Amino acid sequence: MADNIGNKAAHDYHLDVPAVQEGFYVKGNAHCAWGMKNRLARMFRPQSGNTVMLAFDHGYIMGPTAGLERIDLVIPPLVPYVDVLMGTRGVIRSCISPTVPAAKCVRVTYDSTVLYDDMSNGGGIACDIDSAIEMNADCMAVQTFIGAPGESRSLELLARTADAGSRYGIPTLGVVAVGKEMARTEKFFLLATRVLAENGANVVKSYYCEGFERVAAACPVPIVIAGGKKLPELEALEMAYRAIQEGAHGVDMGRNIFQSDSPAGMAQAIGKVVHEGYTPAQAHEVYQEVKNQR
Ligand code: 5RP
Repeated sequence: MADNIGNKAAHDYHLDVPAVQEGFYVKGNAHCAWGMKNRLARMFRPQSGNTVMLAFDHGYIMGPTAGLERIDLVIPPLVPYVDVLMGTRGVIRSCISPTVPAAKCVRVTYDSTVLYDDMSNGGGIACDIDSAIEMNADCMAVQTFIGAPGESRSLELLARTADAGSRYGIPTLGVVAVGKEMARTEKFFLLATRVLAENGANVVKSYYCEGFERVAAACPVPIVIAGGKKLPELEALEMAYRAIQEGAHGVDMGRNIFQSDSPAGMAQAIGKVVHEGYTPAQAHEVYQEVKNQR
């Protein structure tokens, strides 16, 4: 169906009308089973409806990333300030205590490493449903490559993971990757986030962009935003603030936390924005205070 030319442009996002919620606060997940909702409630705080996810899965394609050379030293001190730990099963198993109270989002797909020019040619399953259950995963993350050579393969992996997840009550996080041919535009993120939700993702991870309000409105499940490359702390807090104000339900942030000169300060500051509606300036004070306590 080559039907991408001559369509009417979508335009009516009803931005003044909240998403229809029927009896469960995590957007679009009201009709899921109890176990799925219980895990989503471990990820998204009932008080705010939002989540702070700490991403430290970068090594799965990049090897030792700056700030993550020693995950066993860097990540455990941040656990009290976040709701969800996002990593590969290899790193969670080796570097994170099984007594940890935070929810775990396990990255269940592998991809080509950064040694390949194009990483988006489609990977495979790195952690199957049995292993995710054994890890007591609260969520399974699948990387997808919309508009890239690996699109079809990654959507297959997403759908199969969502099938397995719905059998056992484990939500699937669809992760939007931006292939090297793609631009970070509203148009791209509108399409990519919606495609992931339509193919079974319970939660979508994407990037903040101009027009994010429409992206969030058109995605029937919660969007959490990635942080991307390290920004000055105030700018990262501004981005998180704008995303939340425009409809994101949290962040899944890595480098802007663990590459900060005060990872604990940034984790706490981000938490204030995501859960308590602090402005970027107020949250930046939190970051400064924690940093100065050292
Ligand atoms: C890549 C990912 C990574 O977890 C991610 O990019 C998160 O971290 P950062 O905030 O450093 O971008 O999902 O697709």
